[in-house]
Amino acid sequence: MFCIWLLAICYGLSAIEHQPLAFSFWPSAFGQTETHPIAIVYFVAMQTFKALVVESGDPYTAHVRQAALDQLPQGDVLVRVAHSSLNYKDGLAITGAGKVIRNFPMVPGIDFAGTVLESASPDYRPGDRVILTGWGVGERHWGGLSELARVRAEWLVPLPEGLSLQQAMGIGTAGFTAMLCVMALESHAVDKTREVLVTGAAGGVGSVAVAILARLGYRVTAATGRVSQEAYLKSLGASEILDRSLLTTPPKALETERFGGAVDTVGGAVLTGVLPRMAYGGSVAACGNAGGVKLETTVFPFILRSVNLLGIDSVICPREKRLLAWKRLTHDLPRPLLEAAMQTVSLEEVPELARAILQGQVRGRVVVKLS
Ligand SMILES: NC(=O)c1ccc[n+]([C@@H]2O[C@H](COP(=O)([O-])OP(=O)(O)OC[C@H]3O[C@@H](n4cnc5c(N)ncnc54)[C@H](OP(=O)(O)O)[C@@H]3O)[C@@H](O)[C@H]2O)c1
Repeated sequence: MFCIWLLAICYGLSAIEHQPLAFSFWPSAFGQTETHPIAIVYFVAMQTFKALVVESGDPYTAHVRQAALDQLPQGDVLVRVAHSSLNYKDGLAITGAGKVIRNFPMVPGIDFAGTVLESASPDYRPGDRVILTGWGVGERHWGGLSELARVRAEWLVPLPEGLSLQQAMGIGTAGFTAMLCVMALESHAVDKTREVLVTGAAGGVGSVAVAILARLGYRVTAATGRVSQEAYLKSLGASEILDRSLLTTPPKALETERFGGAVDTVGGAVLTGVLPRMAYGGSVAACGNAGGVKLETTVFPFILRSVNLLGIDSVICPREKRLLAWKRLTHDLPRPLLEAAMQTVSLEEVPELARAILQGQVRGRVVVKLS
């Protein structure tokens, strides 16, 4: 009897690993919920699952440990997470350097891509491949740095055709935000004859923004504190590299008009330096605060040069825009450039990388492999 159970468990686990959905689903014992049959074997096999767990207190800790199925928060879709990723906000959450997490213990991870195991929503069926970014996941609701996640169906989007789950997290929240920035600049008709600036260019949002803008035919200037990354940034399509210190030197109210558009991932003194250098009618998509939250400026770029400062939020971005951004990402982000900008790590490596990302020491995108 024991051997039969063992065989069933081994079959179930290997089947999930390779995602073969030969038999689609059956109604489960959980009311209207549809459960993948192999998920049942999975539940038997794994009353627990692996997750990064953050606990408050002194000291504030983040350790990989086993969590119990019944600890997962409420939601109508259970997902086997294939990959998550490391974003700046995850760095703040995992180290406690920023007040990102609202309740403890918390499984961080503001994004994930995986396969639906169980669904009580008519929108998803077991076997569907899905992506989640934002919605407070990894902040208020257990997140993606975990083998399993239970979330609300309306937070998910289907994995776009042509992307693998790993590539989807190579993009992740950072790449999705980069696309939202590009879409915002497009909707303000950025002058293609002028340079477009990307700040924090060697980071996650920055790297993807450089690659997309270059692909779309913009002349991209990459501003970075790591000029040693010149070859990398040029390989993504940057035409020119700008030393960050040129932007952080306190500017005049108006400097020489230079940039037709800008994606700013840094905020603080860098954004202060960007605004006076925008050309007439130019637009800045501001999405980040890696360099600070305060913005010192004058009104002159706005009232004398008609500059637009566009705020970008990815967390509660409406669904239609989300779907459009993911569709655009499948077309406008060259796959070899995405691969060049990403590295894949294990869950155990995440706490150390969380500290590194806050020091500006992580290049491009970090994908975390869960299963
Ligand atoms: N609005 C939203 O919905 C949204 C979504 C995603 C991310 N974000 C924000 O966007 C920012 C970038 O996120 P990310 O995941 O791409 O982070 P990341 O990979 O760490 O990139 C941030 C980059 O900013 C630069 N940087 C870091 N510390 C700095 C400092 N003290 N002063 C000046 N520049 C500094 C570095 O670029 P260089 O080495 O090239 O100088 C770094 O690589 C973060 O603030 C994040 O919170 C916002």
